[in-house]
Amino acid sequence: MDTRILSPTPAALAEAVALLHSGSLVAMPTETVYGLAGHAWDPVAVAAIFAAKERPHFDPLIVHVAADPRQDSLVYLEQDLGLVNLSALSAPLRAQIQHLLQVFWPGPLTCVLPKALAVPDLVTSGLATVAVRMPAHPVAQALLQTAGIPLAAPSANRFGRISPTTAEAVWQELNGRIPLILQGGSCQVGLESTVIAPTATPDGDVIYLLRPGGIPVEVLQQHTHLPIIKMPPGSLSSPQAPGQLKSHYAPGKPLLLLPTPIEQLSVQLFEQIVRPFWTEWQMGLGLLRFAGDPVAPTWLTEQGIPVQVAVLSPSGDLTEAAQTLFARLRELDQGSTGLLISEPCPGTTGLGYAITDRLQRAAVS
Ligand code: TXA
Ligand code: MG
Repeated sequence: MDTRILSPTPAALAEAVALLHSGSLVAMPTETVYGLAGHAWDPVAVAAIFAAKERPHFDPLIVHVAADPRQDSLVYLEQDLGLVNLSALSAPLRAQIQHLLQVFWPGPLTCVLPKALAVPDLVTSGLATVAVRMPAHPVAQALLQTAGIPLAAPSANRFGRISPTTAEAVWQELNGRIPLILQGGSCQVGLESTVIAPTATPDGDVIYLLRPGGIPVEVLQQHTHLPIIKMPPGSLSSPQAPGQLKSHYAPGKPLLLLPTPIEQLSVQLFEQIVRPFWTEWQMGLGLLRFAGDPVAPTWLTEQGIPVQVAVLSPSGDLTEAAQTLFARLRELDQGSTGLLISEPCPGTTGLGYAITDRLQRAAVS
């Protein structure tokens, strides 16, 4: 099968919709990362998503929906789309969720809600809940509107690998496995959506943060009085949020997380931490920096090691670092490098929390 990348012209959109309605798959740009979309009501299409990604069936998918013609997204999801069954939700919890969706949709927030019976078990991996997201990217919205159906779409990478943020990166991941990729340029957010599960517990209503992402937890917290509880990886009864598996988003080559920015690393620490891996891999070093110029410090080049440097944001801006993270990692991974090393993210709040989460999962432990 030839995988084509097409600009989102009306003709290309019509072709994409025809493919989706026949149970085939289309990769679409979203503001976070590219998604591999299939007809959410069609178990055959959903099975094809798992096959193309080589994704284990215990990992549930996010269902993407078209923009809300109503003021009330929960009524839209329940009555118009028939995706969720919210009859057990209390009015106060419902009001909190509705408010969050009103503020953050369309956008990089995914909400896990009790599912309607009609949603295929394959979408949710048999869970009683379904993850729903209303993407903001105009091409994703055009596709959803024209298709007239919800689209199940995980990130368009092979399982466990770095999420694609360009159409070309999708092609590298899935060439030969899907017929069509819609071109949407570089993703603006660059990190996957924030996944939340608003939940009634015996101690009151809470919002579990299942995956940090494009919307920082501090920003979410400004719009709800419910406690937001960060779930450490593996703490949920698996497989509640398998994207939280350790060793996810991994490049093909080993990645080491440095304890300090490269400038502050001493030769002695380098010898201790990096050298053992480098001699093992014998090739050049890929260095991921958060700020500054794309050059290696003199003490490092003096070691006689070829270094390829990628900078996430010359000015040290975390929004830009999030945007470029996956693309730069991919470049270093494809360079003539044997080992990748990354500076730690300079911030651990805001987007820094999600960036650090992705780096820790990509790194060797
Ligand atoms: O930004 C995004 O969310 C991208 C774009 C394409 O929309 N999609 C994405 O999908 O990242 P994926 O499949 O790579 O990640 C989905 C995450 C996983 O961590 C999965 O475990 C979690 O959502 N998830 C899906 N359904 C769930 C459910 N019912 N309960 C808990 N977690 C769920
Ligand atoms: Mg993914």
